[in-house]
Amino acid sequence: MSRVVVTGRIPEAALAALRAEHEVDDWQEPGSIPRAELLRRVAGADAVVSLLTEKIDAELLDAAGSQLRVVANVAVGYDNIDVAACAQRSVTATNTPGVLTDATADIALSLILMSTRRLGEGERTIRSGRPWKWGMFFLLGSSLQGKTLGIVGMGGIGQATARRAKAFGMEIVYQSRSELDPAVAAELGARRVELDELLSVSDVVSLHCPYGPATHHLIGAEQLESMKPSAHLVNTARGPVVDEAALASALRAGTIAGAGLDVFEHEPEVHPGLLELENVTLVPHLGSATVETRTAMAVLAADNALAVLSGQEPPSPIR
Ligand code: DGY
Repeated sequence: MSRVVVTGRIPEAALAALRAEHEVDDWQEPGSIPRAELLRRVAGADAVVSLLTEKIDAELLDAAGSQLRVVANVAVGYDNIDVAACAQRSVTATNTPGVLTDATADIALSLILMSTRRLGEGERTIRSGRPWKWGMFFLLGSSLQGKTLGIVGMGGIGQATARRAKAFGMEIVYQSRSELDPAVAAELGARRVELDELLSVSDVVSLHCPYGPATHHLIGAEQLESMKPSAHLVNTARGPVVDEAALASALRAGTIAGAGLDVFEHEPEVHPGLLELENVTLVPHLGSATVETRTAMAVLAADNALAVLSGQEPPSPIR
């Protein structure tokens, strides 16, 4: 029997699978585990099942000790994990691709609609008690039909977002490290372009790239400047892909028309400049937040941990 530390609350189905084979020490309080407590608990652990709110770095790996064999992240994004530090210590790192693709694409499309159709502004108007009535020019947004969606990062979630947008009559361009499979590109009618072109031709830009040094502030003042004044930016990837201060300035100045954000540069803090603006929709990192998806993510993370502990290849190692 091995010792598994779970860094936060996860669905019971995943805990039950872990408990059936191992001793499980899981943080059960609401809110994140304090760092000092986490460092204390991981000492002697064979596996750590981590949430994206916890940094898994060299300090934590050393606090765990040389018996640690696997870090199983309950997220597809793994910018909270120092993968190189794991590799140096022969610790397998895993993530949860696939199971949250549709849920996240649903939120991306929701934000596209909320931003282009000004739904947040409408909701705030009613809740504020301000008088309103139907008017020919009241809260007019822009239609998606015939418009161009630029997808930055054409992995599973980017493709699922493109598929949804195509059903709304949008044309798709994308920027990605690799060319789409020709059959998928044909199905989506998607054309691969460089980022500069994508920004200048798109009516909506949706971010789906991983976060790392190469994508830090990928969208800053210069890139926002190169977008159409009528364009909208949607981010369901990771906050620091966008320079939030530059975005707040661009939205205030009308450099672009609107934005929809599910993730934030200094999460859970939100740039105060954004909070003052009507033309930005803000949701608190809900991309994968359905009961079904979170259960599937936690179960996949548990399966990853269990596989490594029993000497098997895990279903989704980080490569
Ligand atoms: C992920 O899995 O990376 C998502 O951001 C979680 O919601």
